[in-house]
Amino acid sequence: MNLSQTIENANLKPNIQNKIKNIFSSGSIDFNQRFLELTDEDKENLLKINHLISQNIDFLIDRLHEHLMEFKETKDILQAEPGRIERLKYIQKIYFEELFSLKYDENYLAGRLNLGLTHLSVNIPINFFMNSYSYFLSLLIDFIKKELPGHSFSNSEILNIINSMQKIANLDMTLVMRAYYSKEINEKERLSNDFIRRLSKIAEFRDENTGAHIERMSLYCMTTAKYLGYNYDFQMDILEASPMHDIGKISIPDYILLKPGKLTDDEFEIMKTHTTKGYDILSNSDSPIMKLGAEIALSHHERYDGSGYPYGLKGDDIPLSGRICIICDIFDALNSKRVYKPAYSVENSLNIIKNEMGIGKYFDPVIFNAFIKATDEIIAIRNNYMN
Ligand SMILES: [Fe+2]
Ligand SMILES: [Fe+2]
Repeated sequence: MNLSQTIENANLKPNIQNKIKNIFSSGSIDFNQRFLELTDEDKENLLKINHLISQNIDFLIDRLHEHLMEFKETKDILQAEPGRIERLKYIQKIYFEELFSLKYDENYLAGRLNLGLTHLSVNIPINFFMNSYSYFLSLLIDFIKKELPGHSFSNSEILNIINSMQKIANLDMTLVMRAYYSKEINEKERLSNDFIRRLSKIAEFRDENTGAHIERMSLYCMTTAKYLGYNYDFQMDILEASPMHDIGKISIPDYILLKPGKLTDDEFEIMKTHTTKGYDILSNSDSPIMKLGAEIALSHHERYDGSGYPYGLKGDDIPLSGRICIICDIFDALNSKRVYKPAYSVENSLNIIKNEMGIGKYFDPVIFNAFIKATDEIIAIRNNYMN
């Protein structure tokens, strides 16, 4: 089963699916290089021991289970249903062999996501997972320490191998934890994010039938932020806040919002107020996401050369979030059907962005370059969310 099927089958709410897709998607995270940050040396170290581990994996897993059976709490979990122990041992065997095989592809990621979700569905508590994992790691380290000298490894080589092993195990454990985290621990955050998206869709539904624009546009923002080099937290913040960019459209009358032709000057003046109205709705909140949403609502039509609205801000006076949103918003609008225009192809949309709106005119050149670098990922997101 591939990653997207796994996520679809996991029966999560769409916004959580998006979040997890982004966390786990090999399209959005260069898994080897960026997330795991395994060096070539780490990989070589792990390759030195993977055959030894796979030859002895049954022995090691048996030791793990002996340990787990010593405690009533874990024993109860293991014996909660017939066949659980055998199944668990089998899964653990594949799991650890895979971990040390260095193939961190979609199947690997899907497997980790599945594991977190499976544990949740059969009520395996997070501490059981963490304790077992940590214990297994200590077993592995002992085993390596004992075995490797006989295979003519020097002490410093053994230490390096153990370091690399700990690194991969910690990162791997974090991945599974993310599945727990996204489904269970942060219910409050999930609810408020869910609410933000629904609220944003109220405005979107009026001039666009499905609300898919905000799903796509917010993912584009996140991806562009990633290519700009911003950290995961900022990427997540902009993912959550950007759907609110047009929330002020709620105050724009239908005859303007839904007008198929060009707006008159007076109508356009009214249309422009969706920025300040959006800001009014979202500002004065304690929530950092709402604050960012307010900033985006106010600034997503400001252009780099000062020709935008509502204030005609120029260059870096425009908040970063607004400078990211404008390119993502315009690209998706060009690429989608609107009452006043057909949907342009990706190629055409990119051409219009490059040649007509231009770098330095509408867009911050640095952000423009990041967006162009992110094009392949952006097209992949677009193809996933076409309705
Ligand atoms: Fe807007
Ligand atoms: Fe928009």
